[in-house]
Amino acid sequence: MKIQSGDRGPCNLSLLFLCAVCLGLAAPAASAQAVPPASPAAGAGTVVKRTVARPWMNRTLPPERRADFLLKQMTLDEKIAMVHGVKPIPVKGYVGYVPAIPRLGIPALTLADGRAAVGNGAKDITLLPAPIAASSGWDVAVMGAYGRVLGREQWLKGTNVALGPTIDVVRVPEWGRTFESYGEDPWLNSRMAVAEIEGIQSQGPIADANMYLTMQQESNRQVEDSRVDERTLQEIYLPPFAAAIQEGHVGTIMCAYVKTNGAYSCENQYLLKDVLRTQLSFDGWVMSDWGATHSTADAANHGLDQEMPDDKFFGDKLKAAVASGQVGQSVLDGQVRDILVPMFRQWLFDKQQPGSWSANARSPEHDAFARMVAEQGTVLLKNDGGLLPLGVGASVAVIGAPGGTAPRVEGGGSSGANAPYVVSPLDGIRKRAGDAARVSYADGGDLGAAASAARNADVALVFVQTKETEGSDRPDLELPGNQDALIEAVAQAGKRTIVVLNTGGPVLMPWLDKAAGVIEAWYPGQEDGNAIAAILYGDVNPTAKLPLTFPRSAGEISTSTKEQWPGVDGRSLYSEGLNVGYRWYDSAHVQPLFPFGFGLSYTTFKLSHLVVEPAKQGGPSGATELVRLDVTNTGKRRGAEVVQVYVGHPAADREPPHQLRAIAKVDLQPGETKTVTLTLDKRSFSVYDPAAHGWAFRAGTYEILAGTSSRDLPLHQSVAIR
Ligand code: NOJ
Repeated sequence: MKIQSGDRGPCNLSLLFLCAVCLGLAAPAASAQAVPPASPAAGAGTVVKRTVARPWMNRTLPPERRADFLLKQMTLDEKIAMVHGVKPIPVKGYVGYVPAIPRLGIPALTLADGRAAVGNGAKDITLLPAPIAASSGWDVAVMGAYGRVLGREQWLKGTNVALGPTIDVVRVPEWGRTFESYGEDPWLNSRMAVAEIEGIQSQGPIADANMYLTMQQESNRQVEDSRVDERTLQEIYLPPFAAAIQEGHVGTIMCAYVKTNGAYSCENQYLLKDVLRTQLSFDGWVMSDWGATHSTADAANHGLDQEMPDDKFFGDKLKAAVASGQVGQSVLDGQVRDILVPMFRQWLFDKQQPGSWSANARSPEHDAFARMVAEQGTVLLKNDGGLLPLGVGASVAVIGAPGGTAPRVEGGGSSGANAPYVVSPLDGIRKRAGDAARVSYADGGDLGAAASAARNADVALVFVQTKETEGSDRPDLELPGNQDALIEAVAQAGKRTIVVLNTGGPVLMPWLDKAAGVIEAWYPGQEDGNAIAAILYGDVNPTAKLPLTFPRSAGEISTSTKEQWPGVDGRSLYSEGLNVGYRWYDSAHVQPLFPFGFGLSYTTFKLSHLVVEPAKQGGPSGATELVRLDVTNTGKRRGAEVVQVYVGHPAADREPPHQLRAIAKVDLQPGETKTVTLTLDKRSFSVYDPAAHGWAFRAGTYEILAGTSSRDLPLHQSVAIR
């Protein structure tokens, strides 16, 4: 059987079913020219009647023309009112608000946070697993559905600008918002960003790509200056935003708190004008992070469109600056147009939102989806002697620290949300084990009680956690408190110990040799206990892969000096350059604890017969090379493997040893073989040339490597690219 990368195997059939039935699976965001469907995305309401007096209400016109018609009718005050939020917010909920202008039929902008759920205190929402968990599935179809669920719930809550996703590349593993991101690889983040943004925007709201740019730490984030060279900026940190704009057609981008090379993100001419507008042709709007606007004329003239959440700089001060000529009228018009175009493109003028902040956004389908994402995002890191899956009869001690009954299911900060319920690991395991086995519980706060519970059970399951949040970085990569000691005590007393991590990023594992099994369950959302039980008992065969590297020790990460993180004298030096994440481990020849792309299954796979050949005309668009290989399930259970293709540049390019450029998740029955075809695009064979300020395609001999993690690449072929 032949499949293309991106084809879905049976493991995703359940997902597709879920999507089709409950997630509306509306086509991706309507194109600029298309007329809105009679019943617009997400089943939204009435189409507003067009009037001749209001030509911008003619929905057959392109968004740009409609914006131009409207702009001509707006007074100075009306324009100023569009480019900032108001405080206090006149309606309940929402973290940002721009009032409607009824005279012209301009709807209010209602902004709400949403990374794993509608945030800002909203009730009756679904708490999905953290984005890092969702991206661990390495499956863009799942990420697309994740976006659709979020977009749908935001829309039902009356939100028309959904703040998210967070698409920054994780540079510092201690970063307090690692859980909000997709991981450490620009290409993987790009794929996930496009899928999630398309998902959100297909349901009604405008999505917002966060946080532009070099937002890689929380320490000193209001003043920190990221010092980064142009090539690194372009090759590592920019690609997810470029993809969000050019492929995801994201409507708005949030500029970050930090400075990049001396200028605040929200008044950084290079980032906002040269890169966003000239290089990437972004035609949506840039809004500031909350309180990240620092000036009036500089910010407006350098490319900021909208201040959030209030009008400190873009209210009366901007009006005065326009009056005095410090800010040109055309600059203000440009700001307003940048906001109006995506509003028209998302049909915000043409449909009435069905919901309000107090509406119920939940559904049984969304609960089921939350569980599926948690299951497919759980990474099996160690499984000595096939201890897992657990046999139904095995007696189990659940030891919480305090994760057993009070699990950590989400990260903190603006992505925090009100879970409607949380299934604890203890409840999930008890339910799954039923009467067949004894399940005991001990609070990890008492090492003696935990050790004794472990001694009296066949298997001890220790749940440990980190508390990660926006606003602060973790001080180090250790499990906080006495959790390392707890694991040691349990491992010493018990027969077999399995450690379940609820963390938002990597942790050190000094006890690794003593644990028979290790599972990274991330922040798994409301369905935590059900999902972990399904993995532990083998109802679900793990398929997830790490989207970031787990180091052996703190000294071995790429940002181990304080000049790099958290910085000295307000500056963080990105001196590791391109060597971020696995790129650094590979170029420095450092063996990580668990490499990027790693994750075990209850079955085994073999890759063979790699063939790399030029893409023929008529092949997938943009592809220059086709990579074909066979994947065989060599074990006894059905399972899915993520085939990963990395590209190694010619030495003269001075690139990291190899970089992820294509993936395919392949579902296989025991003994089954499938031939997978993946594509490599032109960018796979290009580097950014700072002298020319642009990307340059490089002919030469490349190494194409295929395997199942960044450190397990058994197949390779040299190819001459011309
Ligand atoms: C600050 C955060 O950095 C941003 O991501 C969020 O959307 C805003 N606050 C609004 O809550």
